Amino acid sequence: MAKDPTESKIAKGTEEREKLVPDAGQPILGRVSRRSFLSHIGAASIAASTPVFASVSSHAPPAIEEIPSVDGVEGAVPVTLRINGKEHNLKLDPRTTLLDCLRENLNLPGTKKGCDHGQCGACTVLVNGMRLNACLSLAAMRDGDSIVTIEGLADNGKLHALQQAFVKHDGFQCGYCTPGQICSAVGMLAEIERGIPSAASADLAAAPQANGAEIRERMSGNICRCAAYPNIVAAIRQAAGDPA
Ligand code: FES
Ligand code: FES
Repeated sequence: MAKDPTESKIAKGTEEREKLVPDAGQPILGRVSRRSFLSHIGAASIAASTPVFASVSSHAPPAIEEIPSVDGVEGAVPVTLRINGKEHNLKLDPRTTLLDCLRENLNLPGTKKGCDHGQCGACTVLVNGMRLNACLSLAAMRDGDSIVTIEGLADNGKLHALQQAFVKHDGFQCGYCTPGQICSAVGMLAEIERGIPSAASADLAAAPQANGAEIRERMSGNICRCAAYPNIVAAIRQAAGDPA
């Protein structure tokens, strides 16, 4: 029987791609392939949204494990990160971003991946007290640094003042941007306290105040697709002690 020309075209394309990318379709960095990742996500979502089926199923979704290092990766580099007060000695592919390291290697999914291009602020964490988009920094560049994520803000189960204020003022809807908003707000208020001016500061020599204009300007790198901005500003003002 004559071969379907479309099939042979696809087969040829696959062969060529495999020649160019020998690892195509193989597990990424020894962790998980795209296909198995998607099937795990699907299983987990279904189990979460259909508790009746989940309770009778004998196939529970696989537990998420911490994967501290990637062994066997050529050129893996040792990296030490102090995260939320705990030291982690890792061996990482040097191309790993801080965001992927937190989420995939250390199982700290509170820090969110929105754009992965430094445009949304969902991945904001505190590095040595300064806010930083974790998607824009390689983990290896942060060797020896002290990092605080949303998981590390509470103190012995007591929410940080900004976390409490976000709850009180309904500073979120879907909540996806919220960890980044809160970490950014913590860093931003520290900047105001240190007297660092912004584009909204009328007098560069005067101590800046945590008022609405300053907060909106300084938080402009944190996008909220649910547009909870008025509530976010109100929450930050309350946490900063601004009476207005
Ligand atoms: S995920 Fe980092 S800025 Fe959007
Ligand atoms: S609360 Fe949904 S993106 Fe901000």
